[in-house]
Amino acid sequence: MRNIVILISGTGSNMAAIVRAAAQEDWAQRLGARVACVISNRADAGGLAFARDHGLDCAVVAHRDYPSRQAFDAALVEQIAPFDAPDAPALVVLAGFMRILTPEFTARYAGRLLNIHPSLLPAFPGLHTHQRAIDAGCRFAGATVHQVTAELDHGPILDQAVVPVLPGDDANTLAQRVLSQEHRLYVRALRRLLAAPA
Ligand code: GRF
Repeated sequence: MRNIVILISGTGSNMAAIVRAAAQEDWAQRLGARVACVISNRADAGGLAFARDHGLDCAVVAHRDYPSRQAFDAALVEQIAPFDAPDAPALVVLAGFMRILTPEFTARYAGRLLNIHPSLLPAFPGLHTHQRAIDAGCRFAGATVHQVTAELDHGPILDQAVVPVLPGDDANTLAQRVLSQEHRLYVRALRRLLAAPA
């Protein structure tokens, strides 16, 4: 059984979409994978309640408790370790996880560390993607699931979803339209990855 470890910082709606799909589609039986653990860098992340309610192992690794990025990432590795085996390496899924990871961390999980970013990468890496897309006059926006490498929001693209930017959109209305597609996109990308031969 392959463990999926999901890292969040906030609402966790992408995490919830993955947890629901894994249950509804019986990923354990069909894809040999289960969502095993949810880790948040914030104790007040809304998504933790959902994860607890669904019987998932939950951990808070508060970045403020660590003196450096290296120390924080080492604590994350320690939390992930029980779910990570040489013959069944964990998939580490960033879902609204708002910390920059060290190159040591991204190298350790290379090829099995995923992120979702709310833009059509390589356009608009970083923050405030929706406002930047509106300001640039984009007619389309979207989201990208990609492998995580040392360079922020730059790893190989696994899948994308496109939505229109509508007249009168502000960053919030556009973010909502993108987010509803993110949920389907992340589930689809994970399903495909898990189904691919090792
Ligand atoms: C999503 O738009 C994600 O792409 C971005 O932050 C938002 C998090 O949403 N990085 P949620 O926590 O999954 O609800």
